[in-house]
Amino acid sequence: VVETTIQELVSTRRKGWTLPQVFYTDPEIFEADLEKVFRRYWLMIGHASRIPKPGDWFVYRLAQDSYIIVRGKDGVVRALPNSCTHRGSAICITPEGHGAQLVCPYHQWVFDLDGTLKAARLMPPEFDKSPFGLKPAHCRVVQGCIFLSLAESPPDFEPVARDLQDILAAHELDRTKVAFSREYEIKANWKLIFENFRECYHCDGNHPELVNTIPWLSLHLSKERQAELDALNDSKRQHWERIGLSVGGTAMTRQVCHLSYRFVMREGFVSASMDGKPVAPLLGRLKDPDAGGVTIQMYPNCLVLDGCSDHFVASYITPVSPTLCHARVDWLVREDAVEGKDYQIDRLTKLYSITAQQDWTLCENNHAGVSSRAYRPGPYAPSEGNTELFVEWYLDQLTDK
Ligand code: FES
Ligand SMILES: [Fe+2]
Repeated sequence: VVETTIQELVSTRRKGWTLPQVFYTDPEIFEADLEKVFRRYWLMIGHASRIPKPGDWFVYRLAQDSYIIVRGKDGVVRALPNSCTHRGSAICITPEGHGAQLVCPYHQWVFDLDGTLKAARLMPPEFDKSPFGLKPAHCRVVQGCIFLSLAESPPDFEPVARDLQDILAAHELDRTKVAFSREYEIKANWKLIFENFRECYHCDGNHPELVNTIPWLSLHLSKERQAELDALNDSKRQHWERIGLSVGGTAMTRQVCHLSYRFVMREGFVSASMDGKPVAPLLGRLKDPDAGGVTIQMYPNCLVLDGCSDHFVASYITPVSPTLCHARVDWLVREDAVEGKDYQIDRLTKLYSITAQQDWTLCENNHAGVSSRAYRPGPYAPSEGNTELFVEWYLDQLTDK
């Protein structure tokens, strides 16, 4: 599928309907997705507490590219290409590690933690090392969350940074640690996963535990119950604003790639847990566990940065092929919390583990059916308006709008 054909394919797509099959399965469309979406936008790639000390690093992979995410001696987190400037060898060959410098395993060229080439053994004395550093990609850390852009000149990150800073300030996510994380291989095109995370048409039938904790996700509420929850949400939001907790309010549009807001959970629930009871110590400078739920999402790969007064969950994806996607989920608690004493992994992770598994299964089933010869695009329901919005945003990127 060449460029002109992509344009043609986009024009055959019926507004308000799912994408033609080729968008979910074709290798050339997948290449275009990498080029026009994943190597252009900001990607959530993890939490800075994975690399707390100078010299700590982990490797982030996107298709054939690999980056060393390393904390420098100056405390700054950088993303260095994992490809030696001598003959191109991968420099870091394990998923994570630590070192005072980065040494290429092939001929032992030595790079400083900021990418500068420090030593190139047995090269002639007149060899100028200065042009042979590893050139950092754009990397930003906000409230401990690491974002990477592989673009030469990335989209403006300030609106995202401002919103995250604003809504997460009291929770102090920069003073949390990853208490637990899990990686998943999902046999689905990345777009089906993002589509799924933009609608709750599927929630009643598939997420009983989540709907129990966050009842307004249900589309089957009586008018009275809906009015009750709306009133509760309004009064809580006023209360939170009065005590200095931001309620956010940024919504995704065809141009805005992220959202953030604070919402009410079930009456009496103070944590996004199975029973609504706390599962970890209060975060940051919060005094009252009743801080509601916070949700953040960002195109194209941050499915969820969700949390409450005592923990957060970050769930982010990296496409591997048209039919396979990698996901990582991190559970964050305050940095000084002690496992077994202040929190139990099982209680902390239960609600989102169950919910994530339900979603991956839905996405895999979706992909299996979409790959079938019987598949034809189908109409989105009114409650899938945000999914349609995502698809429109995606098509705008493919066609450089
Ligand atoms: S390829 Fe890295 S030192 Fe030769
Ligand atoms: Fe879901």
